[in-house]
Amino acid sequence: MKIAIIGAGSVGKTLGAALRAKGHTVFYGSHDPGNTNERNLTRLALGFDTSGAELLQSQARRAKFYKAFNSSGVSVMTKPHFADGNAVMFVAGPGGPDKKTVLRIVADVGFEAIDAGELKAARLLEPLAMLWIKLALLKGQGSDFALVTARRDVANRNADPRVRVVHPHPQEAK
Ligand SMILES: NC(=O)c1ccc[n+]([C@@H]2O[C@H](COP(=O)([O-])OP(=O)(O)OC[C@H]3O[C@@H](n4cnc5c(N)ncnc54)[C@H](OP(=O)(O)O)[C@@H]3O)[C@@H](O)[C@H]2O)c1
Repeated sequence: MKIAIIGAGSVGKTLGAALRAKGHTVFYGSHDPGNTNERNLTRLALGFDTSGAELLQSQARRAKFYKAFNSSGVSVMTKPHFADGNAVMFVAGPGGPDKKTVLRIVADVGFEAIDAGELKAARLLEPLAMLWIKLALLKGQGSDFALVTARRDVANRNADPRVRVVHPHPQEAK
Protein backbone atom coordinates (compact mmCIF):
# COMPACT_ATOMS: atom_id res chain seq x y z
CA MET A 1 0.00 0.00 0.00
CA LYS A 2 1.15 3.59 -0.61
CA ILE A 3 1.02 5.55 2.65
CA ALA A 4 1.66 9.31 3.03
CA ILE A 5 2.74 10.64 6.44
CA ILE A 6 2.47 14.38 7.14
CA GLY A 7 5.35 15.26 9.45
CA ALA A 8 8.67 13.45 9.60
CA GLY A 9 9.23 13.85 13.34
CA SER A 10 9.45 11.19 16.06
CA VAL A 11 6.10 9.54 15.32
CA GLY A 12 6.24 9.90 11.56
CA LYS A 13 9.69 8.33 11.23
CA THR A 14 8.91 5.53 13.70
CA LEU A 15 5.68 4.52 11.98
CA GLY A 16 7.23 4.98 8.54
CA ALA A 17 10.09 2.59 9.36
CA ALA A 18 7.70 -0.02 10.78
CA LEU A 19 5.39 0.18 7.77
CA ARG A 20 8.28 0.01 5.28
CA ALA A 21 9.44 -3.15 7.03
CA LYS A 22 6.00 -4.62 6.29
CA GLY A 23 6.34 -3.83 2.58
CA HIS A 24 4.36 -0.57 2.41
CA THR A 25 5.65 2.36 0.36
CA VAL A 26 5.90 5.43 2.62
CA PHE A 27 6.10 9.08 1.54
CA TYR A 28 6.71 11.99 3.94
CA GLY A 29 5.46 15.57 3.75
CA SER A 30 7.56 17.79 6.01
CA HIS A 31 9.04 21.29 6.17
CA ASP A 32 12.23 20.16 7.86
CA PRO A 33 12.70 16.55 9.05
CA GLY A 34 15.59 17.66 11.31
CA ASN A 35 13.42 20.00 13.39
CA THR A 36 12.96 18.88 16.99
CA ASN A 37 10.80 21.53 18.61
CA GLU A 38 9.69 20.89 22.21
CA ARG A 39 5.92 20.35 22.62
CA ASN A 40 3.52 21.14 25.42
CA LEU A 41 2.68 17.77 26.85
CA THR A 42 0.61 18.76 29.83
CA ARG A 43 -2.90 19.49 28.63
CA LEU A 44 -5.54 18.76 25.99
CA ALA A 45 -6.21 21.47 23.43
CA LEU A 46 -9.96 20.71 23.40
CA GLY A 47 -12.65 19.76 25.88
CA PHE A 48 -15.38 17.15 26.27
CA ASP A 49 -17.81 18.10 23.49
CA THR A 50 -15.40 17.65 20.60
CA SER A 51 -11.91 16.36 19.85
CA GLY A 52 -8.91 17.25 17.75
CA ALA A 53 -9.84 14.55 15.27
CA GLU A 54 -13.41 15.86 14.89
CA LEU A 55 -12.15 19.41 14.47
CA LEU A 56 -9.86 18.31 11.63
CA GLN A 57 -12.71 16.36 10.03
CA SER A 58 -14.95 19.45 10.17
CA GLN A 59 -12.26 21.48 8.41
CA ALA A 60 -11.49 18.96 5.67
CA ARG A 61 -14.88 17.54 4.83
CA ARG A 62 -13.79 15.67 1.73
CA ALA A 63 -11.20 13.70 3.72
CA LYS A 64 -12.04 10.78 6.02
CA PHE A 65 -10.33 10.98 9.41
CA TYR A 66 -9.41 8.16 11.77
CA LYS A 67 -7.84 8.61 15.19
CA ALA A 68 -5.03 6.13 15.83
CA PHE A 69 -1.46 5.98 17.07
CA ASN A 70 -2.20 8.51 19.80
CA SER A 71 -2.48 6.59 23.06
CA SER A 72 1.09 5.48 23.68
CA GLY A 73 4.47 7.07 23.17
CA VAL A 74 6.90 6.71 20.33
CA SER A 75 9.03 4.32 22.41
CA VAL A 76 6.08 1.88 22.38
CA MET A 77 5.52 2.43 18.67
CA THR A 78 9.13 1.42 18.09
CA LYS A 79 8.66 -1.85 20.00
CA PRO A 80 4.97 -2.69 20.55
CA HIS A 81 5.70 -6.28 21.56
CA PHE A 82 5.67 -6.95 25.33
CA ALA A 83 5.95 -10.18 27.29
CA ASP A 84 2.24 -9.85 28.23
CA GLY A 85 1.12 -9.34 24.61
CA ASN A 86 1.18 -6.63 21.99
CA ALA A 87 0.45 -3.10 23.14
CA VAL A 88 -3.10 -1.98 22.42
CA MET A 89 -3.89 0.77 19.94
CA PHE A 90 -7.45 2.02 19.55
CA VAL A 91 -8.87 3.28 16.27
CA ALA A 92 -11.81 5.72 16.11
CA GLY A 93 -13.53 6.65 12.88
CA PRO A 94 -16.27 5.73 10.43
CA GLY A 95 -16.93 2.04 9.82
CA GLY A 96 -16.47 0.25 6.51
CA PRO A 97 -13.60 -0.96 4.35
CA ASP A 98 -11.41 2.08 5.06
CA LYS A 99 -11.55 1.36 8.77
CA LYS A 100 -10.44 -2.19 8.12
CA THR A 101 -7.48 -0.75 6.22
CA VAL A 102 -6.57 1.51 9.15
CA LEU A 103 -6.88 -1.40 11.60
CA ARG A 104 -4.60 -3.43 9.32
CA ILE A 105 -2.00 -0.63 9.21
CA VAL A 106 -2.05 -0.39 13.01
CA ALA A 107 -1.61 -4.16 13.26
CA ASP A 108 1.22 -4.04 10.71
CA VAL A 109 3.13 -1.69 13.02
CA GLY A 110 2.80 -4.42 15.66
CA PHE A 111 -0.08 -3.28 17.86
CA GLU A 112 -3.20 -5.14 18.84
CA ALA A 113 -5.63 -2.95 16.90
CA ILE A 114 -9.02 -2.34 18.55
CA ASP A 115 -11.96 -0.65 16.87
CA ALA A 116 -13.18 1.94 19.39
CA GLY A 117 -16.18 3.10 17.35
CA GLU A 118 -17.00 6.28 15.44
CA LEU A 119 -14.74 9.35 15.28
CA LYS A 120 -16.60 10.72 18.30
CA ALA A 121 -14.67 8.15 20.35
CA ALA A 122 -11.60 10.34 19.79
CA ARG A 123 -13.02 12.33 22.74
CA LEU A 124 -12.12 9.31 24.86
CA LEU A 125 -8.84 8.48 23.16
CA GLU A 126 -7.35 11.97 23.45
CA PRO A 127 -7.60 12.04 27.28
CA LEU A 128 -6.32 8.45 27.29
CA ALA A 129 -3.16 9.76 25.63
CA MET A 130 -2.81 12.33 28.41
CA LEU A 131 -3.12 9.52 30.97
CA TRP A 132 -0.33 7.59 29.21
CA ILE A 133 1.86 10.71 29.14
CA LYS A 134 1.21 11.42 32.82
CA LEU A 135 1.94 7.85 33.95
CA ALA A 136 4.94 7.43 31.68
CA LEU A 137 6.65 10.77 32.10
CA LEU A 138 5.47 12.15 35.42
CA LYS A 139 4.40 9.21 37.58
CA GLY A 140 7.34 6.88 37.22
CA GLN A 141 6.04 4.17 34.85
CA GLY A 142 8.64 5.16 32.27
CA SER A 143 8.08 5.50 28.56
CA ASP A 144 8.49 1.76 27.90
CA PHE A 145 5.03 1.19 29.36
CA ALA A 146 1.89 0.22 27.45
CA LEU A 147 -1.68 -1.01 27.86
CA VAL A 148 -2.23 -4.69 27.01
CA THR A 149 -5.66 -6.38 26.94
CA ALA A 150 -6.85 -9.51 28.69
CA ARG A 151 -10.18 -10.98 27.57
CA ARG A 152 -12.23 -14.08 28.32
CA ASP A 153 -14.44 -13.46 25.25
CA VAL A 154 -12.44 -15.31 22.61
CA ALA A 155 -15.45 -15.19 20.24
CA ASN A 156 -14.99 -11.43 19.92
CA ARG A 157 -11.74 -11.87 18.01
CA ASN A 158 -11.47 -11.46 14.27
CA ALA A 159 -9.73 -14.09 12.17
CA ASP A 160 -6.56 -12.08 12.66
CA PRO A 161 -5.89 -12.13 16.42
CA ARG A 162 -3.99 -8.84 16.18
CA VAL A 163 -7.20 -7.01 15.23
CA ARG A 164 -10.17 -6.99 17.58
CA VAL A 165 -13.51 -5.38 17.11
CA VAL A 166 -15.13 -3.92 20.20
CA HIS A 167 -18.68 -3.15 19.18
CA PRO A 168 -19.81 0.39 20.02
CA HIS A 169 -22.17 0.93 22.90
CA PRO A 170 -25.82 0.86 21.68
CA GLN A 171 -26.20 4.54 22.61
CA GLU A 172 -23.35 5.42 20.26
CA ALA A 173 -24.80 3.37 17.40
CA LYS A 174 -27.95 5.59 17.43
N1 LIG B 1 6.03 11.55 20.45
C1 LIG B 1 5.14 10.69 20.93
O1 LIG B 1 5.49 9.81 21.77
C2 LIG B 1 3.71 10.74 20.49
C3 LIG B 1 2.84 9.69 20.81
C4 LIG B 1 1.53 9.69 20.36
C5 LIG B 1 1.08 10.75 19.60
N2 LIG B 1 1.92 11.80 19.33
C6 LIG B 1 1.38 12.90 18.51
O2 LIG B 1 1.89 12.73 17.18
C7 LIG B 1 2.10 14.02 16.58
C8 LIG B 1 3.56 14.14 16.15
O3 LIG B 1 4.38 14.00 17.31
P1 LIG B 1 5.95 13.91 17.19
O4 LIG B 1 6.47 13.52 18.52
O5 LIG B 1 6.36 13.09 16.00
O6 LIG B 1 6.31 15.43 16.92
P2 LIG B 1 7.64 16.03 16.24
O7 LIG B 1 8.81 15.14 16.47
O8 LIG B 1 7.69 17.46 16.67
O9 LIG B 1 7.33 15.98 14.67
C9 LIG B 1 6.29 16.68 14.07
C10 LIG B 1 6.69 16.83 12.60
O10 LIG B 1 5.57 17.32 11.84
C11 LIG B 1 6.03 18.36 10.97
N3 LIG B 1 4.93 19.21 10.62
C12 LIG B 1 4.16 19.98 11.43
N4 LIG B 1 3.23 20.63 10.71
C13 LIG B 1 3.42 20.25 9.42
C14 LIG B 1 2.78 20.58 8.21
N5 LIG B 1 1.74 21.44 8.19
N6 LIG B 1 3.23 20.00 7.08
C15 LIG B 1 4.24 19.15 7.10
N7 LIG B 1 4.90 18.79 8.23
C16 LIG B 1 4.49 19.35 9.37
C17 LIG B 1 7.10 19.03 11.76
O11 LIG B 1 7.94 19.74 10.91
P3 LIG B 1 8.19 21.33 11.18
O12 LIG B 1 8.69 21.45 12.58
O13 LIG B 1 9.14 21.72 10.11
O14 LIG B 1 6.84 21.98 11.01
C18 LIG B 1 7.83 17.83 12.41
O15 LIG B 1 8.79 17.24 11.54
C19 LIG B 1 1.68 15.05 17.63
O16 LIG B 1 0.35 15.40 17.37
C20 LIG B 1 1.78 14.29 18.94
O17 LIG B 1 0.91 14.80 19.93
C21 LIG B 1 3.21 11.81 19.73
